[in-house]
Amino acid sequence: MPEPTAGARTHRLRVVEVIAETADAYSLVLRTPPESTGRFAYRPGQFLTLKLPGAGGEAVARCYSLASSPHTGEPLKVTVKRVAGGYGSNWVCDRVVAGDELEVLPPAGTFTPSDLDADLLLVAGGSGITPVLSITKSALARGGGRVTLLYANRDETSVIFRDELRELSEEHPDRLLAIHWLESLQGLPVADRLSAALAPYADREVFVCGPGPMMDSAEQCLRALGTPGGRIHRERFFSLSGDVFDAPAPAPAAGECGPVEGGSTVEVELDGETRTAVWPPGTPLLDVLLAAGVEAPYSCREGACSACTCRVVAGEVKMLRNEILDDQDIAEGYVLACQAVPLTDEVEITYS
Ligand SMILES: Cc1cc2nc3c(=O)[nH]c(=O)nc-3n(C[C@H](O)[C@H](O)[C@H](O)COP(=O)(O)OP(=O)(O)OC[C@H]3O[C@@H](n4cnc5c(N)ncnc54)[C@H](O)[C@@H]3O)c2cc1C
Ligand code: FES
Repeated sequence: MPEPTAGARTHRLRVVEVIAETADAYSLVLRTPPESTGRFAYRPGQFLTLKLPGAGGEAVARCYSLASSPHTGEPLKVTVKRVAGGYGSNWVCDRVVAGDELEVLPPAGTFTPSDLDADLLLVAGGSGITPVLSITKSALARGGGRVTLLYANRDETSVIFRDELRELSEEHPDRLLAIHWLESLQGLPVADRLSAALAPYADREVFVCGPGPMMDSAEQCLRALGTPGGRIHRERFFSLSGDVFDAPAPAPAAGECGPVEGGSTVEVELDGETRTAVWPPGTPLLDVLLAAGVEAPYSCREGACSACTCRVVAGEVKMLRNEILDDQDIAEGYVLACQAVPLTDEVEITYS
């Protein structure tokens, strides 16, 4: 299996199994080639970006959360649910078979608990279960806290991972409580209806993933119950636009360290190496790093996916756009490299 060619950012992963989870959701079990294994270490809740061939031969990028856990020894697994009229999800569900190779960007994302020992409240709707299942399994395998999962679906036939969740509940009766919410029986999970189910757990760290209106209802309900906004983490599913796989044009006036008028200096720690570069005012950090030959991670370059997230250790930056990091992430120093511009002369950044 070849390493990605110079400048290419994807790795080729073998599909070893395709599992029909429900009538319209399929899991792909993926094998990482030995030379790429290190790049595919991940945290529970993170996602992969798949490179799919578009109808006109162009590359189409689609993100899929890992439903597997990095703490149980299982292989990488993503789960794709068909979207009516959608290109990528139907392409995957119709075309991908065991033995295929897919081009994939390494794991990314910030929808991940900082402490697996904490008690957690997880709220999922439909295919939003994928990152939430990874967090559930990881907390049970690695942590010591209790996990309550409220999982909303249209009806019984659309519940992805029903058997796996039942087995986990049987294995961990004192730690996992899985509450199924079926719209066919209980109606839509709107805020006032959710209140009784969520109230006992409203003091926990909360992770919510599902359709937009369901996430809004859960957040509205939790805020009314007194959960601080900073404790409510949301993962929004959307389709990337454009070709995120092409190497970007180098940024002007960027390069290795040296005095450049009006430029800041940035020291970046990534993959165990520390590099220094000049950071021109108004230029996104990601552009500076890529132009300096640093293999910094990214996907959308629009401030929407969190693949480029890094942390400010010293100095100050501002983000031009941010559609993904929440108040808690920002308070902890996380920024999007594709949107970060410098405010101080010296800035230190880490990707660890
Ligand atoms: C971090 C992240 C994690 C994700 N994880 C998962 C996951 O685990 N599982 C999962 O199933 N999905 C996941 N997604 C969503 C996934 O990336 C795709 O967005 C989803 O599969 C739909 O893609 P699609 O190509 O099928 O639909 P698209 O082709 O993008 O279409 C989406 C919708 O828009 C409509 N549409 C498309 N083009 C037009 C147009 N020109 N005019 C009007 N309407 C149009 C379509 O009819 C469809 O209803 C995730 C997304 C993100 C960002
Ligand atoms: S690359 Fe998507 S937010 Fe920066």
